[in-house]
Amino acid sequence: MQLTSEEDEMLSGLQGWATQKAMQILVALGEIYGARRLIPVTSVQIAGVSYDNLGDAGLQFLSEMADGGGKVRVQTTLNPAGMDIENWQRLGIDPDFAEKQERVLEAFSRMGVTPTCTCTPYLAGNLPGFAEHIAWSESSAVCYANSVIGARTNREGGPSALASALTGLTPEYGFHLPENRYPTITFQVAAHLAETSEFGALGKVIGEHIQVSKAVPFIQGIPIATLEFIKSFCASLATYGGAALFQMQGITPEAAGIIPPVEQIRITQVELEAAMHSLSDGTEMEVDFVSLGCPHLSLQEIEHITRMLEGRQVKKEFWITTSRTIKKIADQLGYTQIIEAAGAKIAADTCCVVAPIRGRFTAMATDSAKACYYAASKHKFKTIILPFEEVVRQAL
Ligand code: F3S
Repeated sequence: MQLTSEEDEMLSGLQGWATQKAMQILVALGEIYGARRLIPVTSVQIAGVSYDNLGDAGLQFLSEMADGGGKVRVQTTLNPAGMDIENWQRLGIDPDFAEKQERVLEAFSRMGVTPTCTCTPYLAGNLPGFAEHIAWSESSAVCYANSVIGARTNREGGPSALASALTGLTPEYGFHLPENRYPTITFQVAAHLAETSEFGALGKVIGEHIQVSKAVPFIQGIPIATLEFIKSFCASLATYGGAALFQMQGITPEAAGIIPPVEQIRITQVELEAAMHSLSDGTEMEVDFVSLGCPHLSLQEIEHITRMLEGRQVKKEFWITTSRTIKKIADQLGYTQIIEAAGAKIAADTCCVVAPIRGRFTAMATDSAKACYYAASKHKFKTIILPFEEVVRQAL
C-alpha cells in the first residue's frame, strides 16, 4: 500500500505508540483487502464497548491505547455500553461489572472519544453527509449510514474503528469504492408493511437470501418508510444477512436512476408472515421482560410510549433503551417522569443485548427482529415479536 510521508511517520512511531499501533492495524487490513492507499474519514463510531463483550482482554487493550497517548482526530462516538452510565443500580447491574465498564469508558474518554453510547449515532449528533468516507462499526448503523445517508463505510470491527479514530484514516476498499456499491439483485416487495416488527421481518427474509452471496440488494415496492421502520430494517438485514448496504428505491440517494438488476426475487405476504412467526417461540408463553429500543429509540418513539403509559402502571420489567442525548430531551419534555411514574425504565447508553442480563429473564417481548436473534443466542431467552403498541401492552 502506498503511504504518504505523514502516514509513514505514524507507522514508524514518530507520532506516539498508540498511533503506531493504530497504523499497523490499518495497514494490515489494507493489505489483506488489497487497498492501494489510506483515505481520510470524517466520522467514527466504535462498537465493542460493553464489558460483557470486551472482557478483561478488551479492557487491557483500550487502557494500553489510552496510556500510549492515543487521541482521536475526528468526531468519534461509541456503541451502547453494558449499563446505563448514570443509573446502572436501577437496572440491577452488579457493582463489579459497573466498575469494569466505567474503566472501559474512562479509557475511551482519555482518548477524546465522545462517550455517547448509542447504535443510532445519526440521531445523537454524529451525522455524516452524503458521500463522506467514515469508519463505523455498529452493523445496523453501518447499514443506515451507507443506505439511507449515502455515506461510505465498511463494517469495521471495534479495533479498526478505533484505529481510524486515532489516525483519521481508513484503507480504501469495499464500500468506499463506487464500483462495489452497485446493487446486484432485485427484491420486489409484494407485502404490506406498517410496523417496525414487519420491517424487521422483511430484513430477515432479504438477509437470508443474500447471506451467502453477499449481493447488494435493490429493493422495490416500499411506498412509505419512516426513519423508525428503516432503522429496524437495517438492524435486521445486517443481523440475518451480514449486509452493510442496500439500495431502496425512494429511500437510498444512490438508488435514483439505477436500472434494477435482472435477477429478481419477489417477497410475498406469506413469506413475511412466516418470518414473523419464526421469530417468536409462541404466543402462549409468560413474558417476564419487555424491551423496546433495538436499535435505540427515536424521540418520537419515546413520545409514543409516554402517551400509552400516562396514568397507568406496568406489571413487568420494561426497558426502554435509547441514547443519552434522546433521554435528555425526554427529561426536558417530561416524558421520563411519566414513564418512570408508570414503573417502566428508560435505560440510556445500553440495550437488552449488550447488558449482562443472561439468566435474569425467561421470555422477552420486543418489536425487534435483531433483538430476538441475540436475546435467544446470547441470553437464552424465549422471544415474541409484536407490533410496537402490542409490546407496550405486554408490559401493562
Ligand atoms: Fe443497538 Fe443493541 Fe440493538 S446495539 S441495534 S440496541 S442489539
